[in-house]
Amino acid sequence: MVENPILTYDGKLIQNKKGGKENYPNGTIKLLYERVSVRSFQDEKVPQTLLNLILEAGLHSASAGNLQPYSIIVIKSKSKKEKLAKLCQQAFISKAPILLMFTIDMHRLERWANLECAPFTANNSFRHFWVSFQDVIICAQSICTAAESVGLGSVYIGSVLEAFSEIRELLKLPDKVFPVVLLCIGYPKTRPLPQQKLGLRMIVHNEKYKEQDDSELLKAFNKKYERIKVKIDEERLKVVEEVCNKVQGKAFASRCLELIKRKGYINPAQYYFALHYRADLMPEGNDTYLDLMEKAGFKWFKKYNPSEE
Ligand SMILES: Cc1cc2nc3c(=O)[nH]c(=O)nc-3n(C[C@H](O)[C@H](O)[C@H](O)COP(=O)(O)O)c2cc1C
Repeated sequence: MVENPILTYDGKLIQNKKGGKENYPNGTIKLLYERVSVRSFQDEKVPQTLLNLILEAGLHSASAGNLQPYSIIVIKSKSKKEKLAKLCQQAFISKAPILLMFTIDMHRLERWANLECAPFTANNSFRHFWVSFQDVIICAQSICTAAESVGLGSVYIGSVLEAFSEIRELLKLPDKVFPVVLLCIGYPKTRPLPQQKLGLRMIVHNEKYKEQDDSELLKAFNKKYERIKVKIDEERLKVVEEVCNKVQGKAFASRCLELIKRKGYINPAQYYFALHYRADLMPEGNDTYLDLMEKAGFKWFKKYNPSEE
């Protein structure tokens, strides 16, 4: 199997091996291949009719049982955008003309069930939570693609979880409505170059899972992150050592630091798992998140007891 049969990335532009972008078989494929996250937006407003068009496109997405267990909050007000930027700790969010907060919404389904005299335990069920999560993300991605198709740019913001309670309060989310992801939308001021991705050879398996050998795996990741070589500084080294120590012990921490010093930089795997998504802190957040989820009326991780409901 050939990796990335159409695209090569030469550091400057995406080219089609067969000689240019025009060889994309159709506009949808071109759009998907050239999609990028956009984080700087023009001041230009997005007309409501255009916004409705792309939102409606998302509502045509597949949905388990066609239940559509989600709601989307459209945010245009300057003050709310500024608050969300602060809560999600990313200043550019306030400059996007439109923010869409995608939420799992069991509240509407429960109201419907109550009105129609139907039994309801969806907020106690992992299965319901799982498919709702799938549904809301599929809808968000349809909207993201629809937005690209009309010349808009977008970027997802995942850090809503960090400010879950504050966001629920700000957007007046009722119980059983759970924020999943934020999408910033607007006309791009600048469009970054497409990011290098792992290709078919790494991600797609034929008929059964195939384990790649170490050298092949390393080669693919090195190619993907060839431009990321995080500089060594004392502060970073201290954090890396602390995280390694906590998670995998002293001997591992020494090996890690030794490798960093030998190479002269912090490699992308070390950057992602020791500095960006700190391996020691990530699991520590679990209890907090489950607590927040329970406060929002989701109890799928608890033993279900009808008499307590
Ligand atoms: C679930 C999710 C959460 C993300 N959260 C953030 C975020 O909080 N801030 C940000 O700048 N980008 C965020 N991104 C965008 C990624 O950083 C981006 O997709 C990645 O760097 C690859 O770049 P590309 O989208 O241009 O291919 C998120 C993307 C996804 C899918």
